[in-house]
Amino acid sequence: MAKKIETARLILRPWDEKDLERLVLSLNDFDLAKWMAFIPHPYLISDAHDWITRCGEITKKGPRPTAYEFAVELKSNGLLIGGVSLNKINWETQTGGGGIWITRNHQGFGYGTEAFQAKIAFAFRDLGLKRLINGYFKGNDRSWAMQRKLGYRRAGEVAARCMADGRQTIEHVTELLSSNWEHHRGQKR
Ligand SMILES: CC(C)(COP(=O)(O)OP(=O)(O)OC[C@H]1O[C@@H](n2cnc3c(N)ncnc32)[C@H](O)[C@@H]1OP(=O)(O)O)[C@@H](O)C(=O)NCCC(=O)NCCS
Repeated sequence: MAKKIETARLILRPWDEKDLERLVLSLNDFDLAKWMAFIPHPYLISDAHDWITRCGEITKKGPRPTAYEFAVELKSNGLLIGGVSLNKINWETQTGGGGIWITRNHQGFGYGTEAFQAKIAFAFRDLGLKRLINGYFKGNDRSWAMQRKLGYRRAGEVAARCMADGRQTIEHVTELLSSNWEHHRGQKR
């Protein structure tokens, strides 16, 4: 189902063919891809095309899809600056996963936190999910800082592989319960 979310500075919207070029420019960056599990390097136009096609198919899957994939756009000028996903949705167990990236020259301005927060609110409030499972590769302090700030806790470690360079690494698994999130938000008000 196509879904659009607006935050103070961002619009989270479905991926579109018009994003091809900018997507390649953003993700063909090893310093970004090294923190992601499934981004090949180099990242080619065919990779971007496959991704956008796949996302288009997901949105046609009716009212209970297994994923929502959002392009993150700046409200001020329409520039694509990232992607955020809510995936692996299991409607029975009310759980979901997902990831995020923000293009490198837009990192550190709070956009990642803003987009991830919007995805969490959508998952818990609109979809009624109860638990989100995420993670981050060993050494990705910025991702952990963002997740921790939003209430995530570390839940374990698993062996993982990064597609960009094929290295074996450790993924810290993180989770956020909807009850903890409401509590966490309450404390910050
Ligand atoms: C992780 C990522 C999405 C965060 O997005 P962002 O827009 O850069 O993050 P924010 O500006 O919202 O900052 C989040 C927190 O990171 C921390 N942070 C910011 N810059 C940092 C730096 N250079 N080093 C370590 N931590 C940093 C801060 O704690 C910050 O919160 P604060 O500003 O309130 O203190 C982004 O950096 C990114 O795309 N990284 C590469 C891909 C990736 O790691 N994806 C996640 C895979 S798990």
